[in-house]
Amino acid sequence: MVTKNITITGAAGNIAYSLIFRILSNPPFKDTDKINIRLLDISQSQKSLMGLKYEIEDCAFESLENLLITDDPELAFTDADYILMVGAKPRSKGMERSDLILDNAEIFRSQAQIVNEVCSKKTKIVIVGNPANTNALIMNYNTPKIPNENITSLMKLDQNRAKSILATKLDERVENIKNMVIWGNHSTTQVPDLYNCVIPSKEISLEHSWIHDTFIPRVQKRGGEIIEFRGLSSAASAASAIYDHIYVLEFGSDDCEALGVLSTGEYNISPDLMFSFPLTINDGTFTVIDNLDINDSLTALIKQTEEELLKEREIVKKYLP
Ligand code: NAD
Ligand code: LMR
Repeated sequence: MVTKNITITGAAGNIAYSLIFRILSNPPFKDTDKINIRLLDISQSQKSLMGLKYEIEDCAFESLENLLITDDPELAFTDADYILMVGAKPRSKGMERSDLILDNAEIFRSQAQIVNEVCSKKTKIVIVGNPANTNALIMNYNTPKIPNENITSLMKLDQNRAKSILATKLDERVENIKNMVIWGNHSTTQVPDLYNCVIPSKEISLEHSWIHDTFIPRVQKRGGEIIEFRGLSSAASAASAIYDHIYVLEFGSDDCEALGVLSTGEYNISPDLMFSFPLTINDGTFTVIDNLDINDSLTALIKQTEEELLKEREIVKKYLP
């Protein structure tokens, strides 16, 4: 039996309220593994965390070894196997994710400095708080001790959305949709790529206008659409995607995966950006699939998402030592 130390930041928030119960009821780890869960939020949220603690206890989860609630990042991060960095301001109606950039940059820099002091090379860090890719870059630059490949940003939600929207369009089962590549930023410039997508049992035939005027904008704007309807940003679907993200890191995958990872210049994308590339994942390590063709009609779009990330990087440059 192994006990995993799993830390969730923003634990009193909406995403965490789904994520914690999802992880503890069916852990994305080996059946025999147990979990020490550490829930971090700011001081003003400690009362709410106490209520959450009681709820978790009332579930009598067999996977749960220990439960800590705290406002002390050092305590929460020390010797963590995973840190799920959810804690940040979400956007509200009328905002873009990048509008949060400077407020959330502060949070990620200060938490990164603590991670660098108290974590080991084994700690895996998943960045969820928006703008997720640029926050992940801040995390990367401020944690020289942590290997680059241990820091990833959440793009699985975008991939899940893209698969589901396509499955509905084609009246196909979602698990039959393979190789759904998402290029770039978790933002309205991301590029979901149907030209590399396959359904093994059939040819995908879609009109150019549906791909470009319906599918791509729908996936790009899905987060905003949810805010419009719910009045709050996506929470259960984000939690589900975080679960899927951990699952593929733990168990690998026979499909092409979407995580934001540090660019080293693949596909002529500028190095030192957290970019969603097509990935294979095996034994806890990912490799960029570097031989896909990029359809001409996507080239300019991929450039735009890269440019947006370059602009975000410029805005936060004082956080990138
Ligand atoms: P929320 O406002 O419900 O919860 C955020 C929590 O973070 C709050 O409890 C808050 O007190 C806490 N927090 C703030 N600063 C903190 C700090 N320094 N340390 C620890 N905790 C802190 O928001 P939510 O709906 O749970 O969303 C959280 C973040 O995730 C937002 O930035 C949102 O935009 C982002 N998000 C990302 C994706 C993605 O796919 N990458 C998807 C959905 C939401
Ligand atoms: C999402 O994609 O649902 C989240 O990033 C929340 C948002 O601000 O869109």
